[in-house]
Amino acid sequence: MPSIQLGDDRFNVLDRGDGPALLLVHGFPLNHTMWNAQIAAFAATHRVIAPDLRGFGKSVVTTGACTMRRHADDLAAILDELDVENVAFCGLSMGGYIAWQFVRNHSDRLTGLVLCDTRAGADTEVGRAGRRKLAERALTEGPNCVAEAFLKKLVGPQTATNEPSVIEAIRRMILDTSPEGIAAALLGMAERPDMTGSLGEIAVPSLVIVGQHDEISPAEEMRDIAKAIPACRFVEIPDSGHMAPMENAPAVNAALRGFLSGV
Ligand code: MLT
Repeated sequence: MPSIQLGDDRFNVLDRGDGPALLLVHGFPLNHTMWNAQIAAFAATHRVIAPDLRGFGKSVVTTGACTMRRHADDLAAILDELDVENVAFCGLSMGGYIAWQFVRNHSDRLTGLVLCDTRAGADTEVGRAGRRKLAERALTEGPNCVAEAFLKKLVGPQTATNEPSVIEAIRRMILDTSPEGIAAALLGMAERPDMTGSLGEIAVPSLVIVGQHDEISPAEEMRDIAKAIPACRFVEIPDSGHMAPMENAPAVNAALRGFLSGV
């Protein structure tokens, strides 16, 4: 797994295959391995780039709020280092929050935009307070309290009952994340702006994917996002919650394949 040095900061970045570039951006509090099924499926036809974001996996950890803008700028700098000019950007949840900032500041690099199980709105005041509290707990108690808070909400009922290996893979990713990285991302997500008013300005072909039973970014909310983006398809993934790419990889890969063949 190559590492990329940006100034003093080292990033762990999977870079596999040849062809049009596909950037896979993981959610919170995970790492690039949540995309294993997509990496395996698309590396035969695409150059798949799947980084561990700042604060996650084996990448640099920085303290204090890590904003979605900072993550988007990190990604643009990683693409520069890899000599990749244009990408289809596919982000899940926090990866989607980062996608909005990538659209804002690096839209000239986008060939397509895939938004998986994410939201366009900002947090409510109650949501922000909850994130700050969880950030403090992560720093004092470690990642286990975050696994407890998040795991049940991340998957749909089918996965919860029948797919213990998916649950274990998610738990492992959370427990492998540093408390500082978790806290930085929680504080950064709490600061993210409301993007709903800007969706109509997205000028790149887009795809919205949502797990049928997603509790964090519900299907109705994602359908509204898809309606607000001018050139956007919408695909609901059956038997899946928030972690659709892991819970029903064949359906997600089929949706992605159909979209990418047209961009
Ligand atoms: C994620 O999957 O990235 C998180 O659920 C995002 C969030 O906490 O809002």
